[in-house]
Amino acid sequence: MATRIVLYTGKGGVGKTSVAAATARRIAAGGDRVLVLSTDPAHSLGDVLGVPVGPEPTGLGPGLDALQVDARAELTRHWGAVRAWASRTLVARGVDRISAEELSVPPGLEELLSLLRLVALRDSGEYDVLVVDCAPTAETLRLLAFPDVARWWLGRIAPRQDELLGAVRPLARALLDVSLPDTGVLEEVGRTMESLLAMHELFVDRESVTMRLVTTADRVVVEETRRTFTALGLHGVATDAVVVNRLFPADVGPYFAAWRRRQQDALAGIEEAFAPVPILQAPYFDREVVGPEALDRLGEALFQDVRAQDVLHTGLARELEMTEDEARLRIAVPLTAREDVALRRAGDELVVEVAGRRRTVLLPPAIAHYRPTGAVLRDGVLDVTLRPPEHPDAP
Ligand SMILES: Nc1ncnc2c1ncn2[C@@H]1O[C@H](COP(=O)(O)OP(=O)(O)OP(=O)(O)O)[C@@H](O)[C@H]1O
Ligand SMILES: [Mg+2]
Repeated sequence: MATRIVLYTGKGGVGKTSVAAATARRIAAGGDRVLVLSTDPAHSLGDVLGVPVGPEPTGLGPGLDALQVDARAELTRHWGAVRAWASRTLVARGVDRISAEELSVPPGLEELLSLLRLVALRDSGEYDVLVVDCAPTAETLRLLAFPDVARWWLGRIAPRQDELLGAVRPLARALLDVSLPDTGVLEEVGRTMESLLAMHELFVDRESVTMRLVTTADRVVVEETRRTFTALGLHGVATDAVVVNRLFPADVGPYFAAWRRRQQDALAGIEEAFAPVPILQAPYFDREVVGPEALDRLGEALFQDVRAQDVLHTGLARELEMTEDEARLRIAVPLTAREDVALRRAGDELVVEVAGRRRTVLLPPAIAHYRPTGAVLRDGVLDVTLRPPEHPDAP
């Protein structure tokens, strides 16, 4: 059986590390071999688990290992030659050394390279399940746009690099007083691009790899989570659950009662925005989630009705495909008759009413001004066509 990979992402501080650790403990308790791994440079996985966690798998108990990726080491391994060359070149041009070091690493690359460990860990077959505590959302999403850049490099530059460099190297030396990257550097870029593409393949293997979004029931956090959900769907990555963390319990007392009411209102919107992806909930505990006991309480709350390692929702809940002059949005909906569906756009949201139940879809910025021009319901999937306002078919 293919290794199951569960990735957690979400806004800063919402509980990603706690939820990932709780998930791993719960799965291990059920008898599977699990590795929980964190790519977050903040190194909080060890703090949450209550034991030191290093850059190689550390045993925590029967069937449970943990690993804290050392982003610096991964960067040196996959980008060391490029970095050395780029900073030499920048320093030669008068950039100070510290800025040069920073400029030689594209933003988000560290996180991307940290995730490369996943491919090898999956291929090793040593684990049934890998649970990943990713960096906050923005970093993780960069991964998704990356393949286009990589393919461009591999297709256009890599095959011609000797020819291109041979022609300009002597000239560059004479005129610019900088050296162009040697073939070692370019080979490293090529290799790293290949590895990143392999990792991207892994991310879109929707049978066994899914993302789970951790959020709180606060408006701003929910908005960011919705944008992430849309972006993931756009890139073909499956989201199989949304975790709403830190919900005030019913007996919260008068001081927090208004908070609880607001959270409960937000919950209804959350269900509309992510349906049919299941929502898992965890209460606001009376203390930090640190150590085995607290983690198991969290795991118990989250997974009372489901198995933590299962793919909790199959396929893409929302799939978006964009072409030159239209966007096709496919939304999984419970089987209904055609006449039960109503569509309308409100700001950058598409509101879909199916059999009296609402689904709201946050449109990505590029098509937020498009208008729905048609919809077909087939096999439980509503297929909506959206077109720019200037299109002849647009209403
Ligand atoms: N359900 C909960 N009840 C009470 N405290 C919680 C709950 N979930 C998480 N916490 C606490 O909230 C804090 C942040 O949690 P955590 O470190 O898991 O978030 P994170 O999303 O990984 O943060 P970062 O973005 O900084 O990595 C921690 O102190 C944790 O113990
Ligand atoms: Mg964290």
